[in-house]
Amino acid sequence: MRVLITREIPQAGINILEQYPQIEIDMRKGPPLSREEMLIAVKGADALIPVIPDKIDSEIIEGAGKNLKIIAAYSVGYDHIDLDTATKKEIYVSNTPGDLTESVGEHALSLMLTLARRVSEADRFCRAKKYKYWDPMIFLGPKISEKTLGIIGFGRIGQHFAKIAKLGLGMRIIYHDVLNHPEAEKTLGAEKVSLEYLLENSDFVSLHCNLCEETKHLIGEAQFKKMKPLSYIINTARGPVINESALVNALKKGIIAGAALDVFEDEPEINPKLLRMDNVVLTPHIASATREARIQMARMAVENVVDVLVNKKPPRYLVNKTLNKEKISSIS
Ligand code: DGY
Repeated sequence: MRVLITREIPQAGINILEQYPQIEIDMRKGPPLSREEMLIAVKGADALIPVIPDKIDSEIIEGAGKNLKIIAAYSVGYDHIDLDTATKKEIYVSNTPGDLTESVGEHALSLMLTLARRVSEADRFCRAKKYKYWDPMIFLGPKISEKTLGIIGFGRIGQHFAKIAKLGLGMRIIYHDVLNHPEAEKTLGAEKVSLEYLLENSDFVSLHCNLCEETKHLIGEAQFKKMKPLSYIINTARGPVINESALVNALKKGIIAGAALDVFEDEPEINPKLLRMDNVVLTPHIASATREARIQMARMAVENVVDVLVNKKPPRYLVNKTLNKEKISSIS
């Protein structure tokens, strides 16, 4: 049984797979596979472990052929996988929930601090040898402590960021979510509010929701106009949650003060206008890039595969839960 892993992942995951002689590990190294390469590589695979930039659409899923039993995302997000096609074809889709909560929360925090305290800008200034004398008036930014942090999508990651911000910086936490989170409301004093209230009252807005039809372009021109002129937006969720051209416009016109982005609408492309703005901090989708999170992601993705291929049962972190569980009995 062949497991195609489209990019190099930590050895911790490979070590698990190596315990099963019936499994052939086909791990690709180097740059991402082109579409043509992916179509060839996936053909005949029994399991596929794709990474975030791989677009696993119907053509790739159909192209894999009848052996494919599981697509085990090496990520929490699975918006890059055509869930409908996989489900119709009774192919399990799994993810790696909970493995990167702290890491992404920490990155959101570092983006907030870097943006507001103008760390990247000041770093560029020093490297350009522009620091000639101490100046009381340069690189002024807001104090962050005790300001209001508005979190959109108050799941594990959003709550972790809120916890650090509350306990470390004494920030007021407000959140917008389809679900209620009474426990976090109690422990963090967080208040559930409407999206409109959140935008109008936050000094920092941080996105932590999934990308789906309802959240695509959740933040666009109308929403930026509701934000305070001295407020900032942070995105470690998915690029398309923000309408990027509306963001560029809001930044250019001073409708908001700045943005820190780890994800982009047309990843890995970054709007050239953002690249030229000093009030923007950019990182290349690295919010989960801690050694600990990556190792755990590898373990979890591989465990999902072992559940299906070796233990002949649904993966432990199943995404398409509607999939007929009876199907597993027919897996050979
Ligand atoms: C995820 O897991 O969804 C992150 O975006 C990448 O690690």
